[in-house]
Amino acid sequence: MNLLVTGAAGFIGSRYVRTLLASAAPDAPRITVLDSLTYAGTLDNLPLGHPRLDFVHGDIRDAALVDKLMADADQVVHFAAESHVDRSIDAAAGFVLTNVVGTQTLLDAALRHDVGPFVHVSTDEVYGSIRTGSATERHPLRPSSPYAASKASADLLALSCHRTHGLDVRVTRCSNNFGPHQFPEKLIPLFVTHLLDGRKVPLYGDGRNVRDWLHVDDHCRGVELVRTRGRAGQVYNIGGGTELSNRELTGLLLDACGAGWDRVEHVADRKGHDLRYSVDWSKARDELGYRPTRDFAARLAGTVAWYRDNRAWWEPLKRKAESAV
Ligand SMILES: NC(=O)c1ccc[n+]([C@@H]2O[C@H](COP(=O)([O-])OP(=O)(O)OC[C@H]3O[C@@H](n4cnc5c(N)ncnc54)[C@H](O)[C@@H]3O)[C@@H](O)[C@H]2O)c1
Repeated sequence: MNLLVTGAAGFIGSRYVRTLLASAAPDAPRITVLDSLTYAGTLDNLPLGHPRLDFVHGDIRDAALVDKLMADADQVVHFAAESHVDRSIDAAAGFVLTNVVGTQTLLDAALRHDVGPFVHVSTDEVYGSIRTGSATERHPLRPSSPYAASKASADLLALSCHRTHGLDVRVTRCSNNFGPHQFPEKLIPLFVTHLLDGRKVPLYGDGRNVRDWLHVDDHCRGVELVRTRGRAGQVYNIGGGTELSNRELTGLLLDACGAGWDRVEHVADRKGHDLRYSVDWSKARDELGYRPTRDFAARLAGTVAWYRDNRAWWEPLKRKAESAV
């Protein structure tokens, strides 16, 4: 079986691919990764040279290339995206091009070659802020940021491809991921790498914003369950089960790095900052047997230790990102 995985030079996709390649099962897929290596993607994330892995440097909006790759693919897992909310607030157009036009380019080619399941990896941010309770898959989509709006648009296009053409599309919506190899612009790796460098960390507003945290390995297991056991045309929420305010999370990160609150700088809140995200993942639990491992403290400690031990991975990325700003 040939599996086309987009965006797997990035954080989550690379973890997913490395997990699948580590399996010696007779039905373990051959994998082709398509990634354009934006600032967020690096070949250091992938085990290049693995006998079941091919890497193609290219853009998901390149219709001719995508068509050629889809002709050889049996299934797709689509991670590629512009993924950072702050960047979408500064410049939204690139998010529409990659997240919306790029997704449609993949769907068109999948349809031409009848490739499925096509797993479209989305986000809890499409539901928008939810004050109490948790969003089920039937919750209305009320995205706040251009990033979330572009992901919601892609979700709807993917689902319309199932409804209109019968393509086997499955959508996952997960909460905030953390773990090794996450680009040091997202909250956990940004704060940890700043603290390891003796710098202050920027906490948005009053830090009351609440996020549900999901370890990347739990997310990858959820995506794999959806690919192998999910149903066509369905949406599955994948949650982590650990809700924390940014202030609480900051306290844990300060403790883990042996730093105090004097290392926190309060900065103006993000525009349109959603107060709380929370997904109800009982559908994935009941249908697919999904369950996050929930050892948040151990997983967070492991993540901090990984950044402490892998400066060679993040220092060049961070330098490059900061010099671009
Ligand atoms: N990180 C999270 O907490 C989180 C939470 C919910 C959902 N998601 C979703 O999961 C997916 C993966 O997220 P991530 O954190 O690994 O992202 P990431 O930013 O780390 O990686 C994205 C990858 O996509 C590639 N890419 C970007 N534009 C491309 C294009 N036009 N053509 C080909 N490749 C392109 C980049 O080079 C990079 O390797 C995304 O779809 C994101 O929306 C992420």
